[in-house]
Amino acid sequence: MEPILQVRDLHTSFLTSGGEVQAVRGISFDVEKGKTLGIVGESGSGKSVTSLSILQLLGTTGKIRQGSIRLDGEELTTKGKKEMRSVRGSRIAMIFQDPMTSLNPLIPVGEQVGEMIWAHDRSISKAEREKRVIELFQMVRIPEAEKRLRSFPHEFSGGMRQRVMIAMALACKPELLIADEPTTALDVSIQDQILKLMRSLQQEIGMSIMFITHDLGVVAELADRVAVMYGGLIMEEADIFDIFARPMHPYTMGLLASIPDMHQDKRKRLQPIPGSPPDMIHPPKGCPFAPRCPYAMRICQEEMPEYRKTGENRSSRCWLLDPEAPQDGNPFRQGKEAAHE
Ligand SMILES: Nc1ncnc2c1ncn2[C@@H]1O[C@H](COP(=O)(O)OP(=O)(O)OP(=O)(O)O)[C@@H](O)[C@H]1O
Ligand SMILES: [Mg+2]
Repeated sequence: MEPILQVRDLHTSFLTSGGEVQAVRGISFDVEKGKTLGIVGESGSGKSVTSLSILQLLGTTGKIRQGSIRLDGEELTTKGKKEMRSVRGSRIAMIFQDPMTSLNPLIPVGEQVGEMIWAHDRSISKAEREKRVIELFQMVRIPEAEKRLRSFPHEFSGGMRQRVMIAMALACKPELLIADEPTTALDVSIQDQILKLMRSLQQEIGMSIMFITHDLGVVAELADRVAVMYGGLIMEEADIFDIFARPMHPYTMGLLASIPDMHQDKRKRLQPIPGSPPDMIHPPKGCPFAPRCPYAMRICQEEMPEYRKTGENRSSRCWLLDPEAPQDGNPFRQGKEAAHE
């Protein structure tokens, strides 16, 4: 089956007074129909720019430099503004971190969802529209849907507002839903409820989802596959089970080690990976993670590793996984030699 979204060699930059910010530097991935791809990585790794590139919402300074983005086989990068507006309104829906900024505070939420339906199908009557909004509210488990229709955004809690956003996203029956950190601003228990809701909605309607988060723990809740981003590149991509059971890239290992354990004392949170992300105006010529990588060899600083297949249905970008890579400075090897002395 053809994937719903196919991204190939995507490069996106922003022109700033300080120079060209190379936010995304050649990434390729698919979102399969009816599946969820999680995109994970630290702040600044290029996750949001990836989704904004797909939607062509890069503002006046952002530009797709190179690459292809296909929605159900149809190229999006060559589409004009008007065509893209219709793609965004009907074929790809999106939800973001802060629902308050996406909702109009002066209009009852039911009306706002109704407008979305109307924008789609102008033949539908007002009464029918309201019925459909109630159905959508019930679908996203907003209690007392009929009553809540007339409430204003500020009368909802953060979690309920995010449910309204999901209802709005579903209103146009999108082929793909892009969710960019939709639960980050919420309390952990509410976050969990929203993730459960998204997972059951996906099972009910078989939607394809691209889910962006900095938290591998969140991705474990609902993704089928995971792409791990760092420095504008995908460092590793694999099925969710393989990412957790057999991470191959040191960056993925670092992210896994920094997931707080549910059963552990919250004060004893595990350490994030030491160091800071690369400068995207002058990205390093080698692997962007090399300066922070505990296993870096000399070549890692000097040359960019290729993105290569590292197993059944998985790929990584790492010199350690290349059997032909020169081993100078390999910390494992040094460790062994030291042990023999
Ligand atoms: N409009 C812009 N102008 C200039 N640089 C930008 C712009 N938007 C993003 N960037 C830069 O592009 C890089 C990737 O940013 P992006 O927002 O995609 O990160 P992210 O992975 O979504 O991080 P976060 O987890 O903080 O949301 C960063 O270096 C960021 O500073
Ligand atoms: Mg972001």
